[in-house]
Amino acid sequence: DASDIEKGTYPHYMLKEIDEQPLVMRKIIQAYQNDAGELSIDEGVLNAVNAADRIYIVACGTSYHAGLVGKEFLEKTAKIPTEVHVASEFVYNTPLLSDKPLFIFISQSGETADSRAVLVRVKELGHPTLTLTNVAGSTLSREASHTLLLHAGPEIAVASTKAYTAQIAVLSILAEVAGKAKGFEMSFDLIQELGIVATAMEALTDDKEAFEQIARDFLSVTRNAFFIGRSMDYHVVQEAALKLKEISYIQAEGFAGGELKHGTIALIEDGTPVFAVTTQENVNLSIRGNVKEVAARGAHTCTISMKGMEEEGDSYVIPYVHELLSPLVSVVPTQLIAYYAALHRDCDVDKPRNLAKSVTVE
Ligand code: G6P
Repeated sequence: DASDIEKGTYPHYMLKEIDEQPLVMRKIIQAYQNDAGELSIDEGVLNAVNAADRIYIVACGTSYHAGLVGKEFLEKTAKIPTEVHVASEFVYNTPLLSDKPLFIFISQSGETADSRAVLVRVKELGHPTLTLTNVAGSTLSREASHTLLLHAGPEIAVASTKAYTAQIAVLSILAEVAGKAKGFEMSFDLIQELGIVATAMEALTDDKEAFEQIARDFLSVTRNAFFIGRSMDYHVVQEAALKLKEISYIQAEGFAGGELKHGTIALIEDGTPVFAVTTQENVNLSIRGNVKEVAARGAHTCTISMKGMEEEGDSYVIPYVHELLSPLVSVVPTQLIAYYAALHRDCDVDKPRNLAKSVTVE
């Protein structure tokens, strides 16, 4: 049928969509560039962002995880205080709002009912809203004051991959352009850095055998798996755990390295797989300390580090990219590891049980 043609030679949409990520990065760089070759954002959106004294990001699932990374950009680059909320929680436990809030809804489909419920509520309160979505004309896009498109192309696999990285890339551009408009000095050239990200993604998607082997070594028989990271890497490991859960049904948890000793370390047994992601110089030593702690208790540890921070014994070293943009790249190995784990366990990769691509009921 038509959908088979679209999948081309790929066995699954998920693998195709993982592979499309470098291309999506380049599309986004193009789409958000003006004639002068500078990054640019629609004037109305920019004004809304820079008029806000606080940004409230509202999303679900993988989009929520992209929001966690987006907060870092908005605070570090545009210097706007930002909160990230799970939509279903926000709707009945609305936080105290600032004087001039801006609500950013992140939604691949633009149809998620939990997010829409919040949108309807804040519109009633008269607050400005911006939807970041992959689907032009979707409900959340039509109902918000502003829209930014992800340009990721249709995402068919239930487990979101290229939409996550597209969301992060667009948020990085939004923060950069907003910061520049406010007169902040930028410490890097984002167009160039996103180009480096695209190239790094390519190197990873070209190295699938390595991730298939990691999945085989660490996830063939296990019942559970843990992912640890600190700072930016903490955001990524939460997404990594969600991806693994969704498609392989392995019970997975992603948490902050520093929280290990406060509970989760009790679950470490002989052979428990623990994946550590380390891309941030300032926390590299601490997370490696965590790896040693769990290894000493029998964990089967897999460290994914970034070039420049690697140590002997690391399972994989990803190419160097700007530290702030590292989630765009460090997530790719975890997507591929989840994919192969699901494949090896005979799971329906593109259509996992009990899940829907977009959830239009609350
Ligand atoms: C569903 C999907 C997830 C997705 C979430 C939010 O639960 O299975 O993959 O992250 O909805 O979807 P959205 O379209 O709002 O990003």
